Amino acid sequence: MKKKLVSLVLASVMGLGLLAGCGGGSSAPAAEEKTEETTEAPAEEAAEATAEAAGDADLATKKVGVCIYQFSDNFMTLFRTELENYLIAQGFAKENITIVDGANDQATQSGQIDSFISDKVDVLIINPVNSSSASTITDKVVAAGIPLVYINREPSPEEQQRWIDNNWDVCYVGCDARQSGTFQGEIIADLGLDAVDFNKNGKIDYIMIEGDPENVDAQYRTEFSIKALTDAGFEVNCLDDQVGMWDQVKGNELVNNALTKYGNDVEVVFCNNDAMALGALQAIQTAGRKVGTDIYLVGVDALTEVVEYVISGDITGTVFNNHFAQADGAADAAIRYLKGEDNEHNIQCDYTKVTTENAQEILDSLK
Ligand code: GAL
Repeated sequence: MKKKLVSLVLASVMGLGLLAGCGGGSSAPAAEEKTEETTEAPAEEAAEATAEAAGDADLATKKVGVCIYQFSDNFMTLFRTELENYLIAQGFAKENITIVDGANDQATQSGQIDSFISDKVDVLIINPVNSSSASTITDKVVAAGIPLVYINREPSPEEQQRWIDNNWDVCYVGCDARQSGTFQGEIIADLGLDAVDFNKNGKIDYIMIEGDPENVDAQYRTEFSIKALTDAGFEVNCLDDQVGMWDQVKGNELVNNALTKYGNDVEVVFCNNDAMALGALQAIQTAGRKVGTDIYLVGVDALTEVVEYVISGDITGTVFNNHFAQADGAADAAIRYLKGEDNEHNIQCDYTKVTTENAQEILDSLK
């Protein structure tokens, strides 16, 4: 029979995206682990089936509280949908999974965590509104004796050190945002200076549209996308760097403004995520510009719509932010805590570069 190992699928190796490994991944095991075949005597098999059934029944009675920083975020919508489906597939009862919207307000989310604690949930999965609130959140959840899995917004190294030092049932599951930034920069670097340097000043002139700067994903993508260009030997010129808060409408406004101000000098638009890249694309089209012909545009997440635009050539590239691996990994970590097992305190997965070469393959994998 097939015996499922209780382990996270850490690496999603898709298409031509090169998985360099997570630079910041501190302690996760490196290989992909899924299932293994075992041959067992019928009696052993029956005993195990009973044990597995008991385990499943146990999960069915467990209460899971999930805090999402903001439901209207496109990427986090994909994430929470996968998380709920996967938890149910693992044996949790739908009515025992409560997912709440922090409405991008830490006070609201803190109240929701207090309610989950009074309701005595068995495990909490938290996407914090402010990563800097993690220590306060950790303290109260640990004091209540509830295991905690952070997702999407990685708490600081100092905060993670406290989990290790105190051997708390607290961990983070996510991807290393440095890798996504590096991949964005490489997508542009691979085009070569001749193709990108439309104004022939010998530099790559770009604008940067950032997500919430409180979030390391925004900080690292901003830094490492440009670092990949300079590491590849290009000179860069930042025309504008603005905060679009992961939001399509804000991304649209900011890129509209930048294109009005800097006109044809804008050669590349870097967006920290795809929602803002969609806003940027609208602005580019309004300005009568054409991606691939007189400007380039890259995002992160691999939203279906954006991958379709990569295929049609309207967006240069994106980076797949693997919500399947992250959601399933977070659920698996929660399950391990519920079974009395330990987790690594920092569980990482990989991003995948998405260009015209592998976009169709990525699109197929999203369906
Ligand atoms: C990022 C993602 C963004 C946004 C953000 C929220 O990883 O790329 O689109 O969802 O998380 O924290």
